[in-house]
Amino acid sequence: MQKIIYKSNIEDFDIFSANIIADAIKNLLAGNSNEISIALSGGNTPMPILNILKDINIDWSRISFFMVDERCVSIEDSACNYNNINNVFFKKISSRSFSMIEDGVSYKKASENYQLLLQDNLTVLPSGVPEFDLILLGMGEDGHTASLFPNTKALEEDVSYVVLNEVPQLSTHRITLSYPVLLESKSVIVLFKGKKKEQIVEEIYADKGASYPIDKIAKEHSNIKWIIG
Ligand code: 6PG
Repeated sequence: MQKIIYKSNIEDFDIFSANIIADAIKNLLAGNSNEISIALSGGNTPMPILNILKDINIDWSRISFFMVDERCVSIEDSACNYNNINNVFFKKISSRSFSMIEDGVSYKKASENYQLLLQDNLTVLPSGVPEFDLILLGMGEDGHTASLFPNTKALEEDVSYVVLNEVPQLSTHRITLSYPVLLESKSVIVLFKGKKKEQIVEEIYADKGASYPIDKIAKEHSNIKWIIG
């Protein structure tokens, strides 16, 4: 298991993170003659980082981008992860990118369609799990990651790779990648800012017994990098 924890002061966090992510992408491209696949999370933390990353010299045409999770809103909505990342990043680079949602398609059907899309576009492991080259994750102060929130059904999902998850604590539903596909990715980078979130990671690696949705990724992923600001 490879686990690396990078720490940065808040002022330099965005450029620091963009450079670590760029290096990870360049290493994946160097080690692979074909295309690579990357899944991005939404939320606030990635936006200024993607805005820096877009200007770094990378052969974006060899990368396909997918979403880690999505809000159940219109694709035009300001809360739509794909919409926000598209405006800051996808529109500015020459990569393919795939939204989880499509207006006029139910969120249940959209999650089923996305699973098929992953199986058609990614390497599928003997286990049947689609394999991402890199997944960028965030984390909430409740220890959620992707849209795997505490006490929600998707935490138990071990068959489907993309699920529609009811999140009562937010009175909403989210579409999210499930643990099997998150854990089978070649590499994962978790990035966040804030002491409260940092304490969660310290608790997990100190085996203090508290359980958070991010636990499984922290303890079971074979190649994890943390970028903490
Ligand atoms: C989302 C995300 C979610 C996010 C965390 C952290 O759709 O909100 O994918 O998992 O990564 O909530 O969000 P911040 O970066 O805004 O703190």
